[in-house]
Amino acid sequence: MIVETAPAKLNLALHVRARRADGYHELETLFVFARDGDQVTVAPATTPSFTVTGPFAAAVGPVANNLVTRAEAAFRQAFAPDAIHALTLDKHLPVASGIGGGSADAAATLRALARLHGLPVDTPRLLTIAVDLGADVPACLLGCPTFGRGRGDALAPVLGLGDMPALLVNPGVAVSTAQVFAHWDGVDRGALDLTGTTLERALAGRNDLQPPAEAIAPVIGAVISGLAASPGAILTRMSGSGATCFALFRDTEARDSAAKRIAADAPDWWFCATTIG
Ligand code: C5P
Repeated sequence: MIVETAPAKLNLALHVRARRADGYHELETLFVFARDGDQVTVAPATTPSFTVTGPFAAAVGPVANNLVTRAEAAFRQAFAPDAIHALTLDKHLPVASGIGGGSADAAATLRALARLHGLPVDTPRLLTIAVDLGADVPACLLGCPTFGRGRGDALAPVLGLGDMPALLVNPGVAVSTAQVFAHWDGVDRGALDLTGTTLERALAGRNDLQPPAEAIAPVIGAVISGLAASPGAILTRMSGSGATCFALFRDTEARDSAAKRIAADAPDWWFCATTIG
């Protein structure tokens, strides 16, 4: 039995540069990963199964459409056509929330299956499968701080933040990534500045999907203001296509008191006090 964490993905910055003919967008982004996330378990079995547990289990869509089962099917087709697997997804991250949930789960499934079948995780065909599963899946497969361009799947590793305290906050509104991209105003606001440290690059950057996401889910504005007003918050931003927002803090005390203060006003929001590598 192999257990893999599917860490929450954050986009420290996300610059949308152009619409492409294939329906995707050219972007530049800084991917980093949290200590916390979902968990995927794979084991050899005599009958195939897929079990979903955890606080967000009910929000996971139909089995046939799930990125875990799609990743497993693609893996089997490529590497182990006769294999039968029992899959478990322990779902702790909110779905459709800009922190990679489904992509992270797909990537963790591929990593777990590679380990189970004795394949190196950097097998080129595994990366091809990841690309086909979604734009964020290759970054999640690598699982380390990365600069992404193209659809977000042309990757170059960068230095990380070194376990920086972070608070993730989601107001409980699922937003469709495709819909948020479709609401982008088409204005190229310029490249991500690649000078300085990863934190300096992030601070100099922006998330171009924040305005369109806020137009769809105005509560995102309240999440950002709550985080930005927290003493000790160094960088406050929405991740991906939202609605999850995050703040980075210099110390865990500032992070934890921000969580307490915001939760007092919005007890129904989802909070994850974590660290970013
Ligand atoms: O690749 P994935 O299925 O995760 O993308 C979901 C949707 O997000 C795509 O169908 C597309 O509408 C949008 N997208 C985009 N440009 C990107 C990544 C995603 O337009 N670079």
